Amino acid sequence: MSVTDRRAALTDATGCGAELFAQVDASAFDAEAAADLSENVFGVFSLPLGAATNFTINGTDVLVPMATEEASVIAAASNAARMARPQGGFSTSSTRPLMQAQIQLINIADPHAARTRILERQSEIIDLANAVDPKLVEVGGGVTDLEVRLVEARSTTYVLVHLLVDVRDAMGANAVNTMAEAVSSAVAAIAEGDALLRILTNKADRRLARARAVFDKELLGGEEVVDNILHAYELAAADPYRAATHNKGIMNGVSAVVLATGNDTRAVEAGAHSHAVVDGRYSSLSRFEKNAAGDLVGTLEMPMPVGLVGGATKVHPAARAGLRIAEVTTAQDLGEIIVAVGLAQNLAALRVLATEGVQRGHMSLHAKNLAASVGASAEEAEIIVDRLIEEKAFRFDRAESLLAELRSGGAR
Ligand code: MEV
Repeated sequence: MSVTDRRAALTDATGCGAELFAQVDASAFDAEAAADLSENVFGVFSLPLGAATNFTINGTDVLVPMATEEASVIAAASNAARMARPQGGFSTSSTRPLMQAQIQLINIADPHAARTRILERQSEIIDLANAVDPKLVEVGGGVTDLEVRLVEARSTTYVLVHLLVDVRDAMGANAVNTMAEAVSSAVAAIAEGDALLRILTNKADRRLARARAVFDKELLGGEEVVDNILHAYELAAADPYRAATHNKGIMNGVSAVVLATGNDTRAVEAGAHSHAVVDGRYSSLSRFEKNAAGDLVGTLEMPMPVGLVGGATKVHPAARAGLRIAEVTTAQDLGEIIVAVGLAQNLAALRVLATEGVQRGHMSLHAKNLAASVGASAEEAEIIVDRLIEEKAFRFDRAESLLAELRSGGAR
């Protein structure tokens, strides 16, 4: 489809019209608007924004906005989602949106006693923290619990106070950091020490989203493909070198949706990789099994600190458009869509790796990029791409010479 045809199809599917497309045009977010989000701004950096198709999530069809510079990612996610459709698509769930702030206490003479002194006064500390964000409490959020951990470091034992905060539809960093700063001197006084760091943890392991899908064995390519995908998964589960790449494949999908909705990609990435460490060893974030019918069952659970309010989510017009396309109304819904895309992306990568390898698909897209970069028209590009693939010559200079030949009447 052309971009125009895709816009027409999106309008049919979502009812979103011209005003939505104005939000995703490069001019919608100019340097003046961007300057409110960052510093020393002199321009805007644009990326392709596409919609992944075929996703059924908890029985509802969803078009998923994805911003990525990497070829094949959106196509691969859509293709994997297609293979989950016969078995009902993706089933998702999530915990309450609980973020945690850490307060590091230093110079404590009696860490164990300090811990119990803090716990004795926990409701007082919780009330103090909630008082700084009455709006959050009003909408059903706020501090739900307080925990104290002792961390043995090289030179001393640190007392760490964790505030567990239900941040509702926010990503929550600002909310929890403000609370941690607000209560830190009271907490330090109770501990009879000093407060140093007061900051959220990106190991957001109380704010998890999960996805599960059954991928049809016939659509995957048969029993042998299923078994080879399982070998690919088992290697990632056993070997950190493979796990890093396996999880990168998951994040290709996850980060693209996180970015397209104006959320903090680094927060989600930090959470994901910290969650991939099990008993001190870095491993696969996802799991794959074969069910009794021989189909492939994939599951993925990961921290999901994303929001719908605040920051770029509210300010960036394309992020608002992304949220409209996905038709999400809560941060939890968004997180569940993201984790479903991560699972689809992972399955797509494993399938291609366990069958033909990634290079064939990558190279034809690379040929397309080469044709575009030498300035070929759509018609010329088609011919050039075919020739580059035929000759296995994925080089700029060859694309250039083919274009020259074409324009002088040759190369057909
Ligand atoms: C490339 O961006 C992602 C893959 O390397 C993921 C994987 O190896 O599982 C294909």
